[in-house]
Amino acid sequence: MDALLIHGGNPLAGEVRISGAKNAALPILTASLLSAEPLRLGNVPHLKDISTMLALLGHMGERVTLDDQNHVTLCGESIPHKEAPYEMVKTMRAAILVLGPTLARFGEARVSLPGGCAIGSRPVDLHVKGLQAMGADIQIEHGYIHARCKRLHGARIVMDMVTVTGTENLMMAAALAEGTTILENAAREPEVVDLARCLIAMGARIEGAGTDIITIHGVDTLHGAEYSVMADRIETGTFLVAAAMTGGRVRTTHAQPDTLDAVMSKLRDAGAKVEVGSDWIEIESDGKLQAVDVRTAPHPAFPTDMQAQFMAMNTIAAGAASVTETIFENRFMHVQELRRMGANIEVSGHTALVRGVPRLDGAIVMATDLRASACLVLAGLVAAGETTIERIYHLDRGYERIEEKLTQLGARIKRVH
Ligand code: UD1
Repeated sequence: MDALLIHGGNPLAGEVRISGAKNAALPILTASLLSAEPLRLGNVPHLKDISTMLALLGHMGERVTLDDQNHVTLCGESIPHKEAPYEMVKTMRAAILVLGPTLARFGEARVSLPGGCAIGSRPVDLHVKGLQAMGADIQIEHGYIHARCKRLHGARIVMDMVTVTGTENLMMAAALAEGTTILENAAREPEVVDLARCLIAMGARIEGAGTDIITIHGVDTLHGAEYSVMADRIETGTFLVAAAMTGGRVRTTHAQPDTLDAVMSKLRDAGAKVEVGSDWIEIESDGKLQAVDVRTAPHPAFPTDMQAQFMAMNTIAAGAASVTETIFENRFMHVQELRRMGANIEVSGHTALVRGVPRLDGAIVMATDLRASACLVLAGLVAAGETTIERIYHLDRGYERIEEKLTQLGARIKRVH
């Protein structure tokens, strides 16, 4: 199994090109199930989760073609297997995103129920309830969601909680339903907006994406389209924190600054200088940071996918700060590992109190989920001596060539087998 070896202490400097967003690319790939015509996508990142999704779509019967320049073309003229098997869903929960489009276009879909995952139980009840409100007959049998319908119809759906993939699944299903669907308390995440834009390019009629009420007027068919996936705001945020912690100056290019307001505001509160252009963000820091309180919540508030990285930053900042996680019930697994590097963190329920220490020490640590892995990389970049991060397959699910990009910025980091 691969591990990352980091020698801490180098300030990062230079430019880094941000990749396409994993969490936008995943639903957009599944949108190809809605049309018999090809969907050609640019800026799709090379990541494990993306290849898992392409393998799933290929298994279902789509023709998948990759060319240079990161272009992926998907053609779902016929979909003989309307099923996402357990083996694929268990490695990537986002496989649930095939449910809505497959059901809406073919009147049937069978998707394995995702099991528990490292960061919590993460049910999919709201996806199921929404589809039922649109007329689907859904049975849960042998660990699978088996959904059938004649044609879905429009409905007014008020969602109990803000769910990102839930909103995306229902928006895709509603695109081919008969009549109008109104999703209330919808997720406002930029990735939902990016999916809506791609669907609109395919002929869907969607209003309000980016607000908490999305209106979808169903159409009979969708056509092919060409679309470029948005920049990854979490990858961008991770590099910004890395630069702030190491006391460097980094410009993230091909980025989307308007998706990172909450993150940039916290970085400024911590004492970093942050400047933005139309598609870049530059950060400069002397490495002397103030601890900042963070509370995760649905967009536009502070994203849960940046919580672990800010926890790492607070461990070496001056003063104390609280980090509160309100989205997932078990997203503090990085705390144990940070403590092994000398961090001072106390957890009480959903809140961690982090007291800054003068320095972290390199250690052998283990990654437990995607963003926890990123947090350990950040800690390793500033720790004294050598840090070994094991189980980095989590990192490969969501960060494209992270060690190459960090090396380019001056970090001493390498992958070992
Ligand atoms: C997406 C992101 C993930 C991010 C998360 C929150 C993708 C592929 N993943 O995950 O990176 O951390 O949003 O921003 O886009 N819930 C229910 N019932 C449901 C659905 C969700 O109770 O039917 C709960 C979840 O357990 C969780 C909360 O709602 O507590 C938010 O989850 P959700 O927004 O659905 O997360 P994902 O879409 O899985």
